[in-house]
Order: sequence, then structure tokens, then C-alpha cells
Amino acid sequence: MRLRNRTRRFVGKPVRTHDELPVPLPFPDGWFYLGMSHEWKPGSVRTLTFAGEEVVVYRTRKGTLCATRPYCPHMGAHLGVGGSVEDEYLVCPFHRFGFTTDGECARTPYGSPPKARLDTLPVREISSMVWIWRHHNGEPPSWELPAMGIAGGHTPLSHSIELAGQTQDGTENGVDYGHITELHRIGVQSAVAKFVPDSPFFDLNYQLFRDFPLLGTTKQDFQMRAIGIAAYYGEIVLTRYGLRILTWSLCTPTEPGRFRFTMAHASSLDGPRWLPGPLRRLGARAVSRAALWKSVKDTTDDLYIWNHRRFLHHPKLNQEDGPIGPFRLWARQFYPPVATDTDGKTAGDAPATTSKRIPAPPPRNTVPRVTTDT
Ligand code: FES
Ligand SMILES: [Fe+2]
Repeated sequence: MRLRNRTRRFVGKPVRTHDELPVPLPFPDGWFYLGMSHEWKPGSVRTLTFAGEEVVVYRTRKGTLCATRPYCPHMGAHLGVGGSVEDEYLVCPFHRFGFTTDGECARTPYGSPPKARLDTLPVREISSMVWIWRHHNGEPPSWELPAMGIAGGHTPLSHSIELAGQTQDGTENGVDYGHITELHRIGVQSAVAKFVPDSPFFDLNYQLFRDFPLLGTTKQDFQMRAIGIAAYYGEIVLTRYGLRILTWSLCTPTEPGRFRFTMAHASSLDGPRWLPGPLRRLGARAVSRAALWKSVKDTTDDLYIWNHRRFLHHPKLNQEDGPIGPFRLWARQFYPPVATDTDGKTAGDAPATTSKRIPAPPPRNTVPRVTTDT
């Protein structure tokens, strides 16, 4: 069964319609995965939904990737609808004014350029992935993404699905130890999480006992590092086979109460020595493909539950649940101050507002949207 069909079939559509959802957490701040670098060829312009608005992401002819809010400061045309790249300029379709990669209006077909700028957003390309920065007040990045990748490895293979839920669901799932055995049937040992207050990162070390395609039941040392509230990556090392597998869990906020969840894998194979380099790379790619299949299979159990669950601000936890409480305290740093002061609580354990409901969105296709990049 194709990955696309697998997630569609098993995740299903939420039982509740979108306008019946309770008020979700506000969109968090930080860096968020947007897509794979190769999705933007030189000269391409794409419009994406990100954190409740549209962003236009384009790549210049020389390869610089840029992101901007969509509306031209001249007379308001949507740059993602007919906008084009000419050399290093993003050109508006309406009067053909051109904007530099810094967002400055720098050329026009008539008259001198007005003093005007696009409303640009910071982007980075790390590990062949595109990341975008968001801050509720439009402040510049206060922290940077670390390098994540495998020397000599291939471009990560990925699989995405759109879900109902909160942007933090994916990372919170990583510290929810109880469900790993009960839902995924994977043995867990020595799970230790180190939360550093005010750091956008946290580390978690697991020993997992799980079945792997072709390898049987394997003990894996899994070192996970959270990158902000919406992404984590981890490395699995199988010393016996000279194999390293990097795995990513990536959540992208799209609309209130919805997010896109992406799984990605990249591998490297150091042995056997007699195997020529190109064959090793082919082998590594095959391992990544198998690992992605396995992740989708395991994670589909999560997705089905996430897509239908309600976010509880005050979950009733027990001592074996894992550090969900400390995670939520750590997660508060990514949310804007809460507007309501009804009980003095902050985002992460309190709703942003207490009584409003999300306005009904325009009619939408409720079948989860799935993309696979293998
Ligand atoms: S509206 Fe963009 S150039 Fe006129
Ligand atoms: Fe899970």
C-alpha cells in the first residue's frame, strides 16, 4: 500500500467540524519547517498557508530563497498570483515593479521606484530543508537552527499529512513515554529528558526496542533534540551495521487548530569497506525509505488519535507518563503573552481566550492532504 493511501485510510477526517473546535493555543513563535529545498527550483514562486496567513516563498535565479507576505506595497497585488522571478528580483504581476531579496522596491518599468518594501520573513536552509521564522510581534530571530545532517548522506526523504491539532503535538508526543509502549508496542528504557529553562532546545535520550525492516528486533539508542516547540530530530546508530539514521518530526502551523506533520529520514552507511561508495549511498537511501515506511506505519497510530483529540490545558497525569508537565512549562517560552487575565494563566496550560470560538472557515476539503517525497 502506498504511504499516501496508508495515512489517508487510517487517519480519517476529524469527527468534529472545524468550527466546533475549542479555541486552540495561539500560534507559537520560532523556526518552523516549511518544505524540502528541492521543492523550490530557481525561479519558482509558491504560496503556502503558514500560521493563519499566506506566505510567498520564491527562489532567485542564483538560488537565494526568500519569503514574504503576499501583498505588493504599490497597489496590493498578490505576489503569489502571477508574480515571477527575473534574475534576482521578485516581480509583481500588476505593474511589474521589482523587489530585491531584502524586500526593497528597486526597479520599475516606468518612473523611479517608490520608497517601499515587502514584508519579508526570515528563512534558512538547513539539511536540505526550508525553515521559516515567525514571531507574534514580527521580531527578528532570537536563536538559530543548528546543523542537522549526515556527512555524505542523501537528501532526507519525507512524508507529510495535514491534521487537526496543536503545533506542539508532535514534540509533546516525544516525551509522552506512556503511549510508546501502550500504543506503539515499542519497549522504552532509560528515557531521560533534560529541559533547560529559556533554551529553545531540549535533549532526550531513549533506548528503544523495536522491529526494523530486514534487521529484526533491535535495541536502538535514540538521542533526540528538540528544535523549538515544533520540531525534533534524533539519531539512531546501529554500530554493528555501520549505519546511522537521522529522523525528524516536524510540525508546521497552518490554520488555527490545524498543522501539517512531516516525518523525514536520512541515513549513512559506513560499511562494509569493500562496498563501493555509490552502492553504500544507494544502500543508505534504501534504508531511509524502509525507515520512513516504518515511521509512517508506527506514527499512523498517533495521527489517528491526534486528528480527533482535544487539547487539555490541565491533563491529569500520573508519575509514569513522562515529563509532560516540565515540557509544558518549557513550551511557554514560545507563546505570546496571554491577553486574558481571567485566572492569570499563560499559554501552554491555559487557553488564549476563554469563551470565543474560531470563526467558521470557508468550506474546505476535510480529507487530510498528504504529500510524499521519496
Ligand atoms: S501592485 Fe505591484 S507593482 Fe503595482
Ligand atoms: Fe507516538
